[in-house]
Amino acid sequence: MTKWVVGTVDEIPPGGRKIVEVAGRSVGVFNVGGEFFALLNRCPHQGGPLCLGNTHGFLRPASVGEYDYSRAGEMLRCPWHGWEYDLRTGQSWFDPSSVLVRRYDVTVATGSDLQKGPYVAETYPVSVDQQYVLVEIGR
Ligand code: FES
Repeated sequence: MTKWVVGTVDEIPPGGRKIVEVAGRSVGVFNVGGEFFALLNRCPHQGGPLCLGNTHGFLRPASVGEYDYSRAGEMLRCPWHGWEYDLRTGQSWFDPSSVLVRRYDVTVATGSDLQKGPYVAETYPVSVDQQYVLVEIGR
């Protein structure tokens, strides 16, 4: 596995996302409340651009006439036909054990960490005092 630098932390603020081309694939990197998640930008249904979809939380029945809303921003809805995926796991909402989208580990490193390597930073001049978002993907 290789860690790829996909941007600075400042580029992907909470609630934001960045879609990048990494190792020949399109990947969406999301910031949900300061936690980063990355999914392949290809819906398992018919190949739609999943990471362009809206994010939302979980809405579950609590008691009669009441609902619990939780995990705000952690569900991603495909813009083509509305299939929904958990950003944290890549699992679909309707069939989590058999329909899922590829997820990638994401870490944050400082510029001084990056100078120790090995990382791939094809398009980024790395500054020691910045924080960077890295996505782990095999070649
Ligand atoms: S392509 Fe994503 S729901 Fe159909």
